[in-house]
Amino acid sequence: MDMIKTKSPGESETIKTEVVCPNDTNPMGILQGGRLVAWMDIAAAVCAQTHAGKICVTVSIDRVDFKIPAKIGDIITIKAVITRSFKTSLEIHVQSYARKVKESVNKLISDAFFRFVALDDKGKPTTVPGLVPDVSPPKK
Ligand SMILES: CC(C)(COP(=O)(O)OP(=O)(O)OC[C@H]1O[C@@H](n2cnc3c(N)ncnc32)[C@H](O)[C@@H]1OP(=O)(O)O)[C@@H](O)C(=O)NCCC(=O)NCCS
Repeated sequence: MDMIKTKSPGESETIKTEVVCPNDTNPMGILQGGRLVAWMDIAAAVCAQTHAGKICVTVSIDRVDFKIPAKIGDIITIKAVITRSFKTSLEIHVQSYARKVKESVNKLISDAFFRFVALDDKGKPTTVPGLVPDVSPPKK
């Protein structure tokens, strides 16, 4: 039986940072979509496993839109946050941002919802902690 019954999103929020290198791009120097989705999947997996405290595997990724191209040298910040907890599965919202080194603006380039399933030691789906809201400190 799980000792921890519920956790808040802040306990598993995950930030992953990358720099777009030539090997990540197409011949025009634009970040490949598949490479970005792979980075998003890793950030989401860390988030899911931190919430579950168990190995989690990706079972689905909903529609992924690529809104703005990221280019060689851009700094990519990927934020993964748990949005729903079911019986053995978790929904993770992943947002990706790109920033030029000489600019301070992070632009949203992609976002998607990932679904993960927690597995026990035999590779079977197993229960995950529930989700409770983060409690904000009182405003002064
Ligand atoms: C994860 C896996 C063990 C689940 O097995 P399963 O027989 O589908 O298990 P269940 O039918 O009991 O479903 C388990 C949970 O996953 C959810 N689920 C399964 N497939 C899903 C899908 N395609 N989309 C969303 N949720 C899904 C179910 O709703 C259920 O959620 P709940 O327990 O929170 O209600 C199996 O699908 C698997 O091994 N998939 C491959 C995972 C993988 O290799 N990922 C890497 C990608 S290459």
